[in-house]
Amino acid sequence: MTTPEFLPVAERPVSAYVYSRAALKAAAARVREALPPGATLLYAMKANGHPDVVTTLAAATDGLEVASGGELALAVRAGAQRIAFGGPAKTDQELEAGVRAGALIHVESVLELRRLDAIATAAGTRVDAALRVNRAVAGPDGSHRMTGTPTPFGIADSDLDAAFAVPLSSVVLHGFHLHAVSNSLDAEAYAAFVADALSWSVATAARYRLDLRYVNVGGGLGVSYTDHAVSIDLSVLRERFAALAVPPGVDLVFEPGRLLAADAGWYAAEVVDLKRTHGRWFAVLRGGTHHFRLPAAWGYSHPFTVLPVDDAWPWDFARPEVTEVAVDAVGELCTPRDVLARGVHVSRLRVGDVLVFARTGAYGWDISHHDFLRHAHPQVIVV
Ligand SMILES: Cc1ncc(COP(=O)(O)O)c(C=O)c1O
Repeated sequence: MTTPEFLPVAERPVSAYVYSRAALKAAAARVREALPPGATLLYAMKANGHPDVVTTLAAATDGLEVASGGELALAVRAGAQRIAFGGPAKTDQELEAGVRAGALIHVESVLELRRLDAIATAAGTRVDAALRVNRAVAGPDGSHRMTGTPTPFGIADSDLDAAFAVPLSSVVLHGFHLHAVSNSLDAEAYAAFVADALSWSVATAARYRLDLRYVNVGGGLGVSYTDHAVSIDLSVLRERFAALAVPPGVDLVFEPGRLLAADAGWYAAEVVDLKRTHGRWFAVLRGGTHHFRLPAAWGYSHPFTVLPVDDAWPWDFARPEVTEVAVDAVGELCTPRDVLARGVHVSRLRVGDVLVFARTGAYGWDISHHDFLRHAHPQVIVV
């Protein structure tokens, strides 16, 4: 967003997330265009569970991936055509709700498979499911690896004998869920991972005499947080996927979160103080890492732009201002770790100006520790 279109509706001092429905739809269209023809696109709503974001992406994709009972309820309210339900710690109540909602369950352990079968049998219904597998081989590089390494996610492929030995009355197994990575920027490696996931699924289904109908390769399509011009190269994916042989009858499913939501959100925070200590300039914001935790969690500086705000200065003393200096953009918490960006050059910055952090629509508000210090939550403005 280059224009301050949200400013007229922003409360002062500004502390807001701005989400754009048009940007969400555009991202969904871009991603869909890159996927193999006929593939299913779900939105992993953990990236941003704001109801307007979820409803917009439920309509712009084929459905939603959820990872808790709360997300499941939101997905039902959003009118998702399809719901896939994953997560390693589903309670009996959550499994019951998943069965009631007609979700396809990504089963994360042999125990969960037994519980799901018992719960669906007690409900007198069948339930569609796929086994989430932590394969022996790693997926592409990214910020988090979920498979090929010890994690609590999925069934180790060495335990598949045990999973397929479970007698099932009500669970109908359709295939596999193989989410392997978060935030991969390597399109070649990602395309190779998808091709390998398909051939592994075909071979594994044959080994266990499973009629393979479903291969979910998860999410993981990445963006760079330090260079906002860089994302995983969708043109490379499009080219590689065009040559991908998806076996007939197999629903190849992608469930990205980050790439669908990241560029549809901006975090805006007003400068409430400017100060210099021990030779460093600090722009102190109405906000911080309790609203946008990612830079602190991942240890990087999130780029921002300065939105000059030319309101009348209400005081009879001078408005503080710096020019041509490097500032640290810090928040309102009482910890020196409350830093969104370090040493960023600004040509001019005044108290009352607003710092706008782009690419904050995914894993922004949703992963932050909102109530530390009990500051007011940011306003959410949906445009
Ligand atoms: C099972 C599962 N699916 C999808 C996603 C979405 O991944 P991303 O936002 O990297 O696309 C995640 C994220 O951790 C996940 O755990």
